[in-house]
Amino acid sequence: MHKDVKEILFGEEELAEIVKRIAGEITRDYKDKNLLLVCVMKGSICFMADLMRKIDLDYKIEFLRAKSYLAGCSESCGEVEIRSEIQNLSEYDVLIVEDIFDSGRTLQKVTEKMLGDGAKSVKCCSLLDKPERRAEEVSMELDYVGEKIPNAFVVGYGLDYDENYRGLPYVGILKREVYEN
Ligand code: IMP
Ligand code: MG
Repeated sequence: MHKDVKEILFGEEELAEIVKRIAGEITRDYKDKNLLLVCVMKGSICFMADLMRKIDLDYKIEFLRAKSYLAGCSESCGEVEIRSEIQNLSEYDVLIVEDIFDSGRTLQKVTEKMLGDGAKSVKCCSLLDKPERRAEEVSMELDYVGEKIPNAFVVGYGLDYDENYRGLPYVGILKREVYEN
C-alpha cells in the first residue's frame, strides 16, 4: 500500500466486480440504442477503459475535460469548466462515465451541455458516489452507480490529489496530513 494511503476501500477484485455489474446493466439497457460513451477526463480513465471491455455491444467513445477542483484543493470550488469538441451528438444516446459524484455540479453541468448540444438522450454512470456531499442546487440522480462511499477524500484507479496517485490499482482513502499540510 502507498505510504500516503490510510485505508484501501476497493481492491482490484472488488473494482472488477463493480465494473462487471454496471457493464451488464448497460449492455441490457442499450441493446436497441446508439450508444456513445463519454469519458470525463482525467479521473474516469481507468473506469472507462475497464467498462469498455465488459460492455457487450457496439458503441463509440469520446472524451471531454471537466474541472471542478483547482490544483492542490481538496474541496470543490463551485465552478465547473467543461471542454468538449464532440460532434454530431444528435445521433447518439450519450452515457457519461464519471469517477465520483461528489457535489454533483460536474455531472449536472456536463449533462446540460450534452443535452444543449443535441444528444438524443443522456444518462450518467459513476464509479463512486458521496451522497453526503451533494450541493443544494443539484437535483439530478445517477442512472448507474458503482458504490456509495462516506465523506472521505479518495485516490487511485484514476482519481488524483494534485495530479498524483492516479496509477494506484485500488481506491484508497488519502491520509489527512497529505492535504492539510
Ligand atoms: P463534483 O462536481 O463536486 O461532483 O466533483 C466531481 C469531481 O471532483 C470528480 O470528477 C473528481 O474529479 C473530483 N473529486 C471529488 N471527490 C474526489 C475524491 O475524493 N478524490 C479525488 N477526486 C475527487
Ligand atoms: Mg473527474
